[in-house]
Amino acid sequence: ERLPALLRAMPKAELHIHIEGSLEPEMIFALAQRNGVSLPYADVQALRSAYAFTDLQSFLDIYYAGASVLLHEQDFYDMARAYLARAAMDNVVRAEIFFDPQTHTARGVSMAAVVNGLHRACEDARAEWGISAALILCFLRHLSEEDAFATLEQALPLQDKFIGVGLDSSEVGHPPEKFARVFARCRQLGLHTVAHAGEEGPPAYIWSALDVLKVERIDHGVQALRDPVLVQRLAQGGVPLTVCPLSNQKLRVFPDLPAHNLPQLLEAGLCATVNSDDPAYFGGYINDNFTQLFAATGMTARHAYQLASNSLQASFAPEADKRAWA
Ligand code: ADE
Ligand code: ZN
Repeated sequence: ERLPALLRAMPKAELHIHIEGSLEPEMIFALAQRNGVSLPYADVQALRSAYAFTDLQSFLDIYYAGASVLLHEQDFYDMARAYLARAAMDNVVRAEIFFDPQTHTARGVSMAAVVNGLHRACEDARAEWGISAALILCFLRHLSEEDAFATLEQALPLQDKFIGVGLDSSEVGHPPEKFARVFARCRQLGLHTVAHAGEEGPPAYIWSALDVLKVERIDHGVQALRDPVLVQRLAQGGVPLTVCPLSNQKLRVFPDLPAHNLPQLLEAGLCATVNSDDPAYFGGYINDNFTQLFAATGMTARHAYQLASNSLQASFAPEADKRAWA
């Protein structure tokens, strides 16, 4: 089969990966043992069988429980190194990696342990495998604005080790407006900005991510097609969408993969990209997302080139790097 081979071989950027979502059950158990953390699951098998999600929240509950085994800088390093090794095998030339510091600092882990461990893994990955990697700090939207500001303060001494901020966790009931002032401050600081919007939430949340938070990319954004004026805005502004097909299938955003609207997003002229979101939980890394989506929807090599090109173009990598990859 030529198309799957093309999908695997083409150089691509991954722009929507939560590093805590790359933690495989085997590593969760290994870290639990190393750190003396007890888990409410007997073994890897029992944990894996709990991965039966019905919506975003049912996933987040288990995702935060899995992250509780991360305590020391080395744990964050090991997790990110494993992801980057896997990404390099998928011909990812650039990875922009989300992390959720509040999940860790709330348990007494220092911001420095989180950021330094992840950042060292990014540096080593570039040296060893030639993959370019950068970090994006995400605020948890189910927590308060005050908590987000405190998190930003803790991270600022390490600002040279991340390139931007994002917004994730439980979407419905936590509109982007809640973080207007935090994002304004981040923009002043010269950080890139992105936000999850229109995963389960309405088109109105995509509008406010654009107009209130003034983000440069929308994470997910698949609900945009419900609002033709919004589609026009996203197309004219060239705003990238970081779409995650297997995630959307597992969290029942779409009934199945053939029903996914990525072909329509491209047809509407939007800068859509394909990403893995939380690969250890959703059944596949970025190339699995490409091959399964293409098999399900009948997209062609033309779409493959478009998606790879979109991902490189939408990345925050230096323009010289982007030209070299194109
Ligand atoms: N955190 C990790 N994965 C997420 C997703 N798909 N949506 C919102 N928050 C997340
Ligand atoms: Zn996500």
